Amino acid sequence: MAERYCAENISFYAGQRTLIDDVSLTLSQGELVALIGPNGAGKSTLLRLLTGYLKPASGLCTLAGTPLAAWSPNILARYRAVMRQSTQPGFDWPVEAVVGMGRAPWTRVPEASVVEEVMAITGCLPLAGRQFAALSGGEQQRIQLARALAQLWCDGTPRGWLFLDEPTSALDLYHQQHLLRLLKSLTRRGHLHVCVVLHDLNLASLWADRILLLHGGRLVSRGAPEDVLKTEEVARWYGAQVLVGSHPAHPVPQVFLAP
Ligand SMILES: Nc1ncnc2c1ncn2[C@@H]1O[C@H](COP(=O)(O)OP(=O)(O)O)[C@@H](O)[C@H]1O
Ligand SMILES: [Mg+2]
Repeated sequence: MAERYCAENISFYAGQRTLIDDVSLTLSQGELVALIGPNGAGKSTLLRLLTGYLKPASGLCTLAGTPLAAWSPNILARYRAVMRQSTQPGFDWPVEAVVGMGRAPWTRVPEASVVEEVMAITGCLPLAGRQFAALSGGEQQRIQLARALAQLWCDGTPRGWLFLDEPTSALDLYHQQHLLRLLKSLTRRGHLHVCVVLHDLNLASLWADRILLLHGGRLVSRGAPEDVLKTEEVARWYGAQVLVGSHPAHPVPQVFLAP
């Protein structure tokens, strides 16, 4: 199912402020797309609009040609999942129960085998038996990823559209690499399609097929990493003094701060 995920000329306002300004984009199957931009650019707001948690003031978001608002919420939840910037259930649940919450669109009783399998691929098995609230921020992020993948689990693998808002913000180097390698290998297999907000431009460069750069609520640049991550562009949109070089072992740009 579900060929494309589209935003057509969407805008969103809060009072007098324009948070998202006439954004159009298309996400295709099997892609890993990184959404980047400085603080306050509107990345989280755009993600909420794309996932249907906010309704655009004008314009339309569609999945497989059908407006999000026309989807039954429960069916939509089987096809698109969201890992938010920091979601903390205000209750103390075992991690398996938090991961199992992802199965709600499919079943009343989460299948233990699915919970175990997503925990295995996300590297969460060492956290089994722990209480979610007692985990570190990074450990909670890993469990939230497992929950989002559980939500999309169907016939032995996650399928559909996964949106993540800064999923690596609390992760150490090993877990950043693990998460992005996992997303990349799942998208390569063609069943999972990913749009991820990333602060770290070098992670975006290493793993994204395509980068969208948001500034002041507008999409100001888009393309392959080497098209978007250029010294003048990054300096212009981030206001930082940077040098863009290349990764020592791969032909992708890497961004360095000038001291
Ligand atoms: N409900 C709101 N009311 C007013 N301003 C908001 C609201 N939500 C977000 N903003 C503002 O909109 C801008 C974009 O926010 P956000 O999408 O969270 O940016 P990002 O995720 O790129 O850092 C920020 O300046 C933020 O302060
Ligand atoms: Mg944000």
